[in-house]
Amino acid sequence: MEISEISTTKPTNTSDLGKVYIETYGCQMNEYDSGLIASLLKKADYETTETPESSDIIFLNTCAVRENAHSKIYSRLQSLGYLKKKNPNLVIGVLGCMAQNLGDDLFHEELPLDLVVGPDNYRSLPDLIKEIRNTKQKLSLTRLSKIETYDEIEPQVIDGISAFVTIMRGCNNFCTFCVVPYTRGRERSRNYKSIVDEIKNLTDLGVKQITLLGQNVNSYSDEKKDFTFLIENILKNTTIERIRFTSPHPKDFPDHLLDLMDKEERFCSSIHLPLQAGNTDILTKMKRDYSKEEFIDLAGKIRSKVKGIGITTDIIVGFPTETEDQFLDTLDVVQKVKFDMAFMFKYSEREGTVAKRIYADDVTEDIKSDRLTRLVNMQTAISHENNQEKIGQIYSILVENTSKKSKRELSGRTQCGRMTVFPIPEDKTLDDYKGKTVKVQIKSSTSATLKGELLSE
Ligand code: 5AD
Ligand code: SF4
Repeated sequence: MEISEISTTKPTNTSDLGKVYIETYGCQMNEYDSGLIASLLKKADYETTETPESSDIIFLNTCAVRENAHSKIYSRLQSLGYLKKKNPNLVIGVLGCMAQNLGDDLFHEELPLDLVVGPDNYRSLPDLIKEIRNTKQKLSLTRLSKIETYDEIEPQVIDGISAFVTIMRGCNNFCTFCVVPYTRGRERSRNYKSIVDEIKNLTDLGVKQITLLGQNVNSYSDEKKDFTFLIENILKNTTIERIRFTSPHPKDFPDHLLDLMDKEERFCSSIHLPLQAGNTDILTKMKRDYSKEEFIDLAGKIRSKVKGIGITTDIIVGFPTETEDQFLDTLDVVQKVKFDMAFMFKYSEREGTVAKRIYADDVTEDIKSDRLTRLVNMQTAISHENNQEKIGQIYSILVENTSKKSKRELSGRTQCGRMTVFPIPEDKTLDDYKGKTVKVQIKSSTSATLKGELLSE
């Protein structure tokens, strides 16, 4: 059943509304959204809890971008069935992109599921929960909005000294393989003042580093103020120490952003620039609006304008009709650009996308796997080479945590985004350094990590 209009009255009896448990899948924007949902529900007098067993309401905030995202959710829902049997009043909901993508169809899978809510409808959650409790009906709400930006809600999604801040929602690009424009709707930018205020509040809470999130941050536009204006404003009006962002689109990359990045220490020299494929015909079929040569030129310009920049990327292998020669173009771009790191995927057909409508998924699973392996091997060697070149250099590391291996070793990132670990003196602990920026000289490296020595303060 689809609900079209719901009143947003605050419950009067707040004593037994119950505890909400939220599990997050997928991208950083979903992590931010889970924070939004928790914040909305707290305002409506719900409590949050850390385990499904202790909850009265379970939300899975889902992803639909690649195939395995769906299967993970189906099996997770099945595994939660035993809690529903123990407590028939338990409300289980699927939120996020998979909810928007599949809607009421999710109820057809005989899953223990009461509620399906898309990313633009989270404000209705308190009322939907109430409605389900009153009527015992299954409900879904998946209306896309042209304006919802959750501007005034500050979810404070803080991980140690770092936090995410969403600056825009949705995407107008319609790359043919991608489900995001259908699950997150049209592009909308948040008001720049509300973003600056949110960052000020985060710094008051001790946050040192923020990552600005958007599907396509270079089309950020608020009252004709662009992304560079937003960054300048954050630099001027907040004391945040490090600003990162993800992701820009290669087709309309703003030059002045590079000058600002080179000039401003606090604006980190690191860009995630999704390539997707290296062959121009495949890029055209993907509707990416740049050619192989244009991408290589852009990467070259970025490297020449911003000293020591880190460039990372996303790549898909086995898009429909991709031949061996066309795949070799992807390897060629990877070899020429020398990305510092890459997320690499096999193409998976997505419901509702143009690619699914007009192309057969005709690259076999074996060929996709083979191409992925070759690509991963090449990228790992390049990451290793890039990191080896850093040996001997001194970097400013913002200390975030202890390393995975030892409490006597701390970890943090360079401005250019490389994970760095280094040992600390016997008499010191993480608390002495967390959130501080220290100088580290690199002594060795692997493809994923730089290892260094702390220089005296
Ligand atoms: N198949 C494989 N990878 C995909 N991505 C998006 N859609 C698909 C798909 N259908 C990848 C892109 C994108 C990243 C977030 O996920 O590389 O940049
Ligand atoms: Fe998807 Fe393309 Fe938009 Fe990125 S830019 S979210 S890949 S449609």
